[in-house]
Amino acid sequence: MDYETIIVETRGKVGLITLNRPKALNALNAQVLADILVAAKGFDADPGIGAIVITGSEKAFAAGADIKEMQTIAYADAYVQDLFVGWEDFTRTRKPMIAAVAGYALGGGCELAMMCDFIIAADTAKFGQPEITLGVIPGMGGSQRLTRFVGKSKAMDMCLTGRMMDAAEAERSGLASRVVPAAELVEEALKAAARIAEFSLPSVMMAKEAINRAYETTLAEGLRFERRLFHSLFALDDQKEGMAAFAEKRKPNFTNR
Ligand code: CAA
Repeated sequence: MDYETIIVETRGKVGLITLNRPKALNALNAQVLADILVAAKGFDADPGIGAIVITGSEKAFAAGADIKEMQTIAYADAYVQDLFVGWEDFTRTRKPMIAAVAGYALGGGCELAMMCDFIIAADTAKFGQPEITLGVIPGMGGSQRLTRFVGKSKAMDMCLTGRMMDAAEAERSGLASRVVPAAELVEEALKAAARIAEFSLPSVMMAKEAINRAYETTLAEGLRFERRLFHSLFALDDQKEGMAAFAEKRKPNFTNR
């Protein structure tokens, strides 16, 4: 498969997607969305893949939605086409996705990172929702996801002032799960993804589904949902294997069954 705007590779059981529009600092245009959807869906359907890493360049994870592409869009077209709704499709990817962020993750770039399951930040990462400086507001989930990540006060600060947050602040406020030296970013993210990919795929996918449910429902319903998923895992060979391996002091051999 040929992609115009991304590079797609596999590293063992990990799918690696690298945004590749260097001249536009990986700005997210319609082609990037089309390419990313094909790549993510391909990895989701590939039984040899257990986790996905999405990264950009040293300078920019992504500097936002493509401003030049958006500049002349009429309101009627934005509304009728439901501009950016396609990214919801991307968030339906069921295998874990790690965003490995170096440099700018602004606007849609920050929003893409937040669509992933967790963010590993290089010490050079800069996150921001500067849409207000362009006369608009976040349109790929920033006002909703950033608020859930960092709380109302910081989300208001970021979206109303358009200021950037460095990697240390992002980790401190719960946006990034960890910060690593820039030179080690992709290797660290691949290592985390490879570790995830070693576990039983159904349990990994259910863990992701359960955590995501926490954002969609009440605590009582979420707890019930978690227990039901937990119970269902006892139907799998991998639960028997994982617990037997622990008791026998050996490494489990998961078969995803
Ligand atoms: N869209 C389109 N092109 C972009 C872009 C974007 N979001 N960000 C950068 N570029 C382009 C620049 O136009 C420039 O292209 P030319 O060489 O053809 O002029 C090239 O990338 C390099 O950018 P700069 O020269 O500006 O690089 P810099 O190092 O001086 O500055 C930057 C870097 C601070 C990230 C700056 O590029 C910038 O502010 N970019 C825009 C950030 C932004 O506002 N993002 C939000 C977009 S709106 C959005 O995302 C809506 C949403 O919620 C979905």
